[in-house]
Amino acid sequence: MDWGAIDRYAKSLIKEAGHRIRVSFAGKIQIETKADANDLVTDIDRDIEQFFISRIRRDFPGHRILGEEGFGDDVRSGEGVVWILDPIDGTMNFIHQQRNFAISLGIYADGVGMLGYIYDVMADDFYHAYRGEGAYRNDERLPRLAPVPVEKAIIGVNASWVTPNRYIEHEAIGQLVSDCRGTRSYGSAAIELAHVAAGRLDAYISMRLAPWDVAGGSVIISEVGAVATNLRGEQLDMVSKDTFIAARPGLHQTVLDQYIRLKRTK
Ligand code: IPD
Ligand code: CA
Ligand code: CA
Repeated sequence: MDWGAIDRYAKSLIKEAGHRIRVSFAGKIQIETKADANDLVTDIDRDIEQFFISRIRRDFPGHRILGEEGFGDDVRSGEGVVWILDPIDGTMNFIHQQRNFAISLGIYADGVGMLGYIYDVMADDFYHAYRGEGAYRNDERLPRLAPVPVEKAIIGVNASWVTPNRYIEHEAIGQLVSDCRGTRSYGSAAIELAHVAAGRLDAYISMRLAPWDVAGGSVIISEVGAVATNLRGEQLDMVSKDTFIAARPGLHQTVLDQYIRLKRTK
């Protein structure tokens, strides 16, 4: 497998998709809801996923595609080469703010993350990594991350996890919010992972994410020494939804040991 060639191909495809998204703001965007009134999708999310899929199917016919909007393959295992795509991560931001959303793509071979991309479209910040070759923001190599203690950490966490919910004991998350230096929430898991990779967030936690939210970012953060697992500390399977934590080395285990009390097994 010529991963260098796939890397160049994927970068150019993502840049072209980003251009299409920017151009889309000139027209009227159609907004629909999915699972609930706040689970939004637009015609642009669907168009961009179909754009990726038609190109990948044409140029890499043996590869499979797992995409959020469902135009790809029915992927239930990690065998072979799988492109894991979120065409727009942060759709609510895309609709309400016209910024703070990203294209997220991970390319996995037999379950191992080989290539990872997060493109913050409006900032024109492109985070990318090739397994074993380091992680980059545009042309700048990102340094490896050193440990930090909880009291000096900025944690990415959505406020909903500090309110009663069916996934986790929210009081323990409240204690983490009290003990850390500060919290942030950006509304795009991919952008939060880019912040972890760049050392601007020390950890990011969520109770429910899908493979397409984290596939690209997990490759990128592991290249700077951060750790991504579910909240039981297990490796993610990249085919099912799960809880999630990405954090600097050391801080990852501390948060799991001291602040995570799960109510459910999955
Ligand atoms: C969502 C964003 C959000 C996270 C949600 C995701 P979408 O993705 O990443 O930050 O909290 O769980 O579903 O729907 O905008 O692609
Ligand atoms: Ca998403
Ligand atoms: Ca999405």
